[in-house]
Amino acid sequence: MTAATATDSRQIALPDAAATLALGRRLGDRLGPGDVVCLTGNLGAGKTTLARGAIEAWTGHEEEAPSPTYTLVQTYEGAKGDLWHVDLYRLKQPEDAWELGLEDAFAEAACLIEWPERLAGHLPRNRLDIALTPQGEGRSAALVAHGAWRTKLGSI
Ligand SMILES: Nc1ncnc2c1ncn2[C@@H]1O[C@H](COP(=O)(O)OP(=O)(O)O)[C@@H](O)[C@H]1O
Ligand SMILES: [Mg+2]
Repeated sequence: MTAATATDSRQIALPDAAATLALGRRLGDRLGPGDVVCLTGNLGAGKTTLARGAIEAWTGHEEEAPSPTYTLVQTYEGAKGDLWHVDLYRLKQPEDAWELGLEDAFAEAACLIEWPERLAGHLPRNRLDIALTPQGEGRSAALVAHGAWRTKLGSI
């Protein structure tokens, strides 16, 4: 018998931006306090678009959801509590993230994190990684679930 794998994965085709938003909404519907989602991909990959869909689902209404490239964090209130949209592109060193209160947010809020690479591995064990890559005119999303996220992956 082989040991259970620690991760589980899924690939989802996103032919246009509407598909990215829709994936974000499905994700947002399933998020709860303490859920951490890492969004990776180059500039223009669609990370903020996906986050925008999740934020809409979380708050229950359309949101402008500006990219937090300069503010690093934007928080949103929903029926389930706070959602943090974080963009660490401009983070100089991983330690600076703790000044933002990110550690507490990991435990208490739902977190969507763009450029999680900036944390150099200081990420919660239970998390969902979504990597966006170009595919023709659209994108492809590779979802990798770690820990407790594995049981939720199929429902997204
Ligand atoms: N699946 C997709 N197919 C084509 N274009 C997309 C797709 N998803 C998002 N986009 C577009 O890509 C552009 C960059 O998206 P954005 O979410 O700002 O990227 P990032 O945050 O990764 O830099 C936007 O114009 C957006 O509408
Ligand atoms: Mg962005």
